[in-house]
Amino acid sequence: MRDKAIDILKGNWREGYTIPSKNLYPYQWKWDSGFIAMGLAHFDQKMAEQEVLTLLDAQWKNGFIPHIVFHKESDTYFPGPNFHRSDLHPLANKDYPSTGMTQPPVLGFTLERMHEVAKNKKDSLQFIKDNIDSVYKNHQYFYEHRDPKDEGLVYIYHNWESGTDNSPLWDPIFETIDAPVYNFERRDTSIIDPSERPTKREYDYYLHIIDIAKKHNYSDQKIAESSPFLVQDPLFNSMLIKSNRSLITLYRLLGGNEDKIDQLVRWQAKSMDSFNSKLFDSELGAYIHYDLRNDKPIRMVSSSSFSPLFAGIPNKEQAEVLVKTMMEKFGGEDMYLCASFDPTSDQFNPKKYWRGPVWINLNWMLYHGLLDYGYHELAQRMKSDSIEILQKAGFYEYFDPRKSIYKDGNKGYGGSDFSWSAALFLDLTET
Ligand code: GLC
Repeated sequence: MRDKAIDILKGNWREGYTIPSKNLYPYQWKWDSGFIAMGLAHFDQKMAEQEVLTLLDAQWKNGFIPHIVFHKESDTYFPGPNFHRSDLHPLANKDYPSTGMTQPPVLGFTLERMHEVAKNKKDSLQFIKDNIDSVYKNHQYFYEHRDPKDEGLVYIYHNWESGTDNSPLWDPIFETIDAPVYNFERRDTSIIDPSERPTKREYDYYLHIIDIAKKHNYSDQKIAESSPFLVQDPLFNSMLIKSNRSLITLYRLLGGNEDKIDQLVRWQAKSMDSFNSKLFDSELGAYIHYDLRNDKPIRMVSSSSFSPLFAGIPNKEQAEVLVKTMMEKFGGEDMYLCASFDPTSDQFNPKKYWRGPVWINLNWMLYHGLLDYGYHELAQRMKSDSIEILQKAGFYEYFDPRKSIYKDGNKGYGGSDFSWSAALFLDLTET
């Protein structure tokens, strides 16, 4: 499997970056790139560094890093650069057409992990020295432009920014939006069974939210004032907090940079406080999302609800509550960990994208979180379930959590030879 994983990553490598999957995703995606770089680091330090460099090359002048970088023309993906029009933003990167939205902040902990794995520590430290400030600027962008109430919690303005595209979490928000019916040709549903992808109507909402942001030339302030989708996402914020911590560790390793370390420590303290007071739902026994636009909590449990474990956010009692919820709702003997949405809910769908299937990047984060909190046995299960599902179903994009269906030789869903599934397999088996 190790050889196969390396082959996949080599096969998906373009000039300087890795595409997530040949048949579905022909560009560079932000959080994919971070997970992929950690996998590349296990067999080629230079490739891993190049992956990160290429993404940072596409950074905007205000520190923003886009969710997709459209390196080349391609007619196999919709919506492409002509729909997104990143050039509308005055500080957008002129050399790289991209989307005008972002994805979860992976790069802090990606750099830390790459350094742990690196064989040549001297080169690796130099690489970090040359690039860490760009990642810091990205965090500064989030705290200065995505936190209108100064809470230490940043917002996302589009479901695609969450990475968990069509989770049932967003359904109640879409019900508040009056989206027109768009005329367009999607590419994913001509390749993959539509029952495993978001619906056409969902895409109308996705496009409409982008159109609103475009009307305001992607101004953060205007988006904060008027986007119908404005959410504080525990997964996104956990990844930011985890990455803050990694930046502090790496700056200390480099020496100097006291002002940046102090700032990161201040952001960190504020974020952790607000996170626990605003996003922990003790009745549900989980962290939840908060709908800033409609000023109300989104009281649903998804795999994102447990991601604060990865960032060291819960105290011991809260961690205990999270583990109990995970075991009761997601941890049945007949299920692989960890379904992306509450399997006891009516909205759970084991085949449909982020409405139920297992995703390896979430499992990877939860594995590390459980390990950090001393839940060794459960962490071990998270890891062995991930490896077993990849063994049985192949290096696909997402997987049915029901163990029984693999008896008939069923494969995974979505893109095959999926880069982060291969990359994180390499990293999981080396920890
Ligand atoms: C899908 C996933 C998203 C990922 C992208 C590229 O849109 O939902 O999280 O980044 O594919 O793999």
